Amino acid sequence: MSSLGVPPSGARGLILVTGGLGFIGSHTVVELQNEGYEVIVVDNLSNSSTEVLNGIERITGKKPIFENIDLREKAAVQNFFATHTDISGVIHFAASKAVGESVENPLLYYENNISALIYVLQELTKLPAANFIFSSSCTVYGQAEKMPITENAPIQTAMSPYGNTKQIGEEIITDTSKVSALNAILLRYFNPIGAHESAEIGELPLGVPQNLVPFITQTAMGLRQELSVYGNDYPTSDGTAVRDYIHVVDLAKAHVIAMQRLLNKKNTDSVETFNLGTGKGSSVLEVIQSFEKVSGQKLNYKIVGRREGDITEAYANTDKANSILGWKTQSSLEEALASAWKWEKKIRNK
Ligand code: NAD
Ligand code: WQD
Repeated sequence: MSSLGVPPSGARGLILVTGGLGFIGSHTVVELQNEGYEVIVVDNLSNSSTEVLNGIERITGKKPIFENIDLREKAAVQNFFATHTDISGVIHFAASKAVGESVENPLLYYENNISALIYVLQELTKLPAANFIFSSSCTVYGQAEKMPITENAPIQTAMSPYGNTKQIGEEIITDTSKVSALNAILLRYFNPIGAHESAEIGELPLGVPQNLVPFITQTAMGLRQELSVYGNDYPTSDGTAVRDYIHVVDLAKAHVIAMQRLLNKKNTDSVETFNLGTGKGSSVLEVIQSFEKVSGQKLNYKIVGRREGDITEAYANTDKANSILGWKTQSSLEEALASAWKWEKKIRNK
């Protein structure tokens, strides 16, 4: 039996994974291959490298097919789909994701995150099987009024061009589904962290990490002097901001289940939306304490002012994903942090 409780049954269909060499994409390719899917990865290597293919092969015994294509090139996307008419589903991870950079260069974000989506949908909707999974984000909820956040919580005005591309992306998919055979699942991720337990693949942030966990592991490794904790005056239990940190392998498995749902035509709407989180909020100080416990390292940190644009708290109500997808997270925060630390040590040869 596989880890998802499904007997491996040989090839189950060809799945296109765009951005499949990135952080979440690579873990999803592993889970798809473990479940017997054929995978074809399209990535332009703007935030990844072909070394990830070797990591995937070391874990699964198989390299996915890989094509280096920039999805902003419409003709290249058309040509790709013209030569791969046997694709049964697409998981679309390819996007730029740095919030600060999106404020500085909005057109880069609108071009990459929106044009690429449109070109892929234009070709996918010509195929008999137009099954599509979209990487959305809890950022669409902004600072939600009620915790935990359900899928019905109102979408708030985006706080960054990046966040706006996720909202517009969801709308483009919904509008397209009304006039085509498109069946789509929008997955709103909370805060993905961690790495594969083998430490063969993980997160590879370019430059100075903006996200908490890679900043913590790089600080513990001595690459950064100290972690700045952005604010301890939030109305939370210890004053630091609260998020829902989900192990990337749990997140990856949800994509396989969502794709199975579309392939088996079990979806009840042409567009369905699911929150993917653990359902548990953790403060920045709690993350630091958990990290110190699992790594045995004291972390050098100081409290500084709030980071502009940050919200107080966000954690998921996961009832819908639990009951309809039959998915729930298996890993704890400590396990996720331990895997992130193991990965950081591996890539620094420590
Ligand atoms: P990532 O940067 O590690 O992976 C994205 C991959 O897409 C990279 O390999 C990159 O080279 C590729 N790519 C980017 N633009 C491309 C293009 N034009 N053509 C082809 N390939 C392209 O990011 P990730 O953390 O794995 O995120 C995956 C998706 O999930 C993104 O859509 C992101 O917005 C979304 N998401 C991420 C988070 C998070 O915190 N990591 C949270 C919510 C949603
Ligand atoms: C987590 C907490 C920080 C760094 C961002 C995007 C969001 C989503 C995930 C894609 C916050 C605090 C952080 C540091 C800190 N991406 N922190 N010191 O802000 O929840 O979400 O990534 O969709 O769109 O906005 O994640 O990891 O940056 O921060 O104190 O050096 O850690 O203030 O409370 P965030 P994060």
